[in-house]
Amino acid sequence: MTQDHTSIYYTEGLPVPETPPPGEAPQPWEKTDVIGKPRPRVDAYERVSGTAVYPSDVLLPGMLYGAILRCPHPHARVKGVDTSRAGKMPGVRAVIGPKTPAADLPWSFQDVTIKLFNPICRFEGETVAAVAAETPCQAWDAARAVAVEYEVLPFVADERHALDSDAPEIHSGGNTVKKDSYARGEVDKGFAEADVVLEQHYRTEAELQTPIELHGCVARWDGDLLTIWESTQGVYAVQSKVADTLGLPLSKVRVIGHYVGGGFGSKLRTSRYSIVAALLARKTACPVKLFLPREATFLAMGNRPPSNMTLKAGVKKDGTLTALEFTCLGTGGAYPAGGTSLVDTQVRDLYLCPNVRTECTDVYINAGPARPFRAPGHPQCSWALEQMIDALADAVGMDPVALRLKNVPAYSQSRNGNPPYTTTGLKQCLEEGARRFGWDEARQGAGGGNAKGHIKRGVGMAASVWFVGGGGPPSTVVVKLFSDGSANLNMGASDIGTGTKTVMAMVVAEELGIKPEMIKIEHADTDTTQYATPSGGSKTVPTEAPAVRDAAVQVKQQILAMAAEEMNVSVDDLVYEGEEIASRSRPDRRKRVSEIDGLNKRGVVMGVGHRGPNPENKTVNPFCAQFCEVEVNTKTGEMRIVRFLSTNESGRVMNRLTFDSQVVGGITMGVGMAATEMRILDAAQTGKLVNRNWHDYKLPTAMDVPADMTSVPIEMPDAEANTTGAKGLGEPVVIPTAAAVANAVFNAVGIRVAETPINPLQLCRLLEAEQTKQPKRRVER
Ligand code: MOS
Repeated sequence: MTQDHTSIYYTEGLPVPETPPPGEAPQPWEKTDVIGKPRPRVDAYERVSGTAVYPSDVLLPGMLYGAILRCPHPHARVKGVDTSRAGKMPGVRAVIGPKTPAADLPWSFQDVTIKLFNPICRFEGETVAAVAAETPCQAWDAARAVAVEYEVLPFVADERHALDSDAPEIHSGGNTVKKDSYARGEVDKGFAEADVVLEQHYRTEAELQTPIELHGCVARWDGDLLTIWESTQGVYAVQSKVADTLGLPLSKVRVIGHYVGGGFGSKLRTSRYSIVAALLARKTACPVKLFLPREATFLAMGNRPPSNMTLKAGVKKDGTLTALEFTCLGTGGAYPAGGTSLVDTQVRDLYLCPNVRTECTDVYINAGPARPFRAPGHPQCSWALEQMIDALADAVGMDPVALRLKNVPAYSQSRNGNPPYTTTGLKQCLEEGARRFGWDEARQGAGGGNAKGHIKRGVGMAASVWFVGGGGPPSTVVVKLFSDGSANLNMGASDIGTGTKTVMAMVVAEELGIKPEMIKIEHADTDTTQYATPSGGSKTVPTEAPAVRDAAVQVKQQILAMAAEEMNVSVDDLVYEGEEIASRSRPDRRKRVSEIDGLNKRGVVMGVGHRGPNPENKTVNPFCAQFCEVEVNTKTGEMRIVRFLSTNESGRVMNRLTFDSQVVGGITMGVGMAATEMRILDAAQTGKLVNRNWHDYKLPTAMDVPADMTSVPIEMPDAEANTTGAKGLGEPVVIPTAAAVANAVFNAVGIRVAETPINPLQLCRLLEAEQTKQPKRRVER
């Protein structure tokens, strides 16, 4: 089979190199003074001092600036593009569009414009034409001066109406992208056995991708060699797509992405702007920098798709779940970008339940394409399931933590053969989280209990499972040890801001007994570093770290063999102790690594490390439980999160500092989903995006998240998962956050907020409806 270079997940069927035995290496569950300790990032100084060169900082001599003209309509046919005025404007060097004469285009890429510029624009923000000019402002002015004649077409911008009989067809063949269904057991029988059956409709609004560093690249040609500096989660993924689109050999496309100012899934894929930049650079014979303005990233660079979910659930009085039935409708916008927009993992797998049926439908609408967004699909499903579990607990008079503990599975219920989890810390997350949060006491004092006037307090919690725990091969890493005891680590993976480089340096440091400061890391460059899959799926540490450890172990084994010869002892008798090699039987015999003749003669000892496969007939998944306390002002509808605690079982903690920063970041993003963020499309009249800037699109700020955020790692080193014992963390930590907030709000004011975001507008309506006993109304927009 061919390798899917854009896949972030384990690729079946690849030949997997044998992972050598760990030799003298400590077992992953052993404590050392390196792994697991809080360690500042190896590139902290560069990052905070501004000396780190992000792709958006790249400046090259003679560099031009690109700008893209985007379709202003949600659905339109491009009837004519006139670039003549734009082409004559000051500083303009090139204009390309769908009608660019073939003779004007670079020699070999004439048909690329067909793929780049669709004659039909299916969302507001589709690429229509592009310009290169000497300054960014000249490029923008010229792009605006391209005259386009559009035939505006009817649109549908609300997925709830995409399948209406009068909805315009977005692609020929209808607006259904696909339907995924799953079933086990007998759902009807399960509901019949239940003491309580509840059914509820839930909705989550679309969230927009908004990393600090905008999406973009710099493209430069040297003869027929193309170099792209790209803000990306995976340089090899970009290389593969660019080479394929331009008809170039992979060897002639180099992609470099040393720093990334945030990706969150939106930079897993290659975008059109990279191709546009390459074409403009080719046409002008100058390097071209093309970074999108924030408005364009809001329109075209991905979102967490909206969800419309119905969940029916049955439970016995003792808390045993008997049946779950889940349907969801979502949309990846006008173009599917990475499978179904929603997933049902939480419903299928989080709690023991013999009878489950799910159906997820994905439809097209005239809106920007969804992209992966931190734990794609999972927080949506969690919003439904975890509020439902809370409601079931309430209905049978059980504590929500106790009801969850009653239904903790030891194996995956939905995967073929029901493979057991390598480790499952769900129980520990629930128990330890409740203990550390002071759940029982807080719960008793919450709600009406200690409410003062119109400020009501409540506590809530939610739990989750993340569907992957460690990627797999391919992963190749080279470690070189120099004769002075410093080392070089070479790997292709990107550090997307999570601290990957630091963790890898710690793995080498632990194995070779050297200080992380003595390690130089080369990464994320297709010309000079090893192949790696994109950094995503919370798999970067569990995928790359075992290969790093393997490479370091190989270096160590060579060093030990040389030392044995020079010290005239058997290799089994030697032990690697930091900067020295010591004999076990003759403690007086010691040798400094830097004094080993073999190393000094060679200059360098090198290890090429690979990652072995994940265990067979087992499944590797991280778990999480979160607890929070909120205050609701029943007069103003304002909701304040007072404190938040996250317990995460992600295997072995590699770096406590970067671990905690993932937890804080995940909670913050989850608070955005819960309380402030929503894409607003003017679905009724224009179909256009209403909130397309950081003023109108409400990202949570430091004022919106609690100062009191606690990270409680459940340290269960996963010896079966891989040779470092680590599972993923970045995505698991965002999954249950919004649901935990909603459950706390219910505990405070007795109102089930089934639709995000829990903002004052919505809370005021719901509070008013509750007071006047009117039927609950959706916030109208
Ligand atoms: Mo992630 S959404 O796999 O970067």
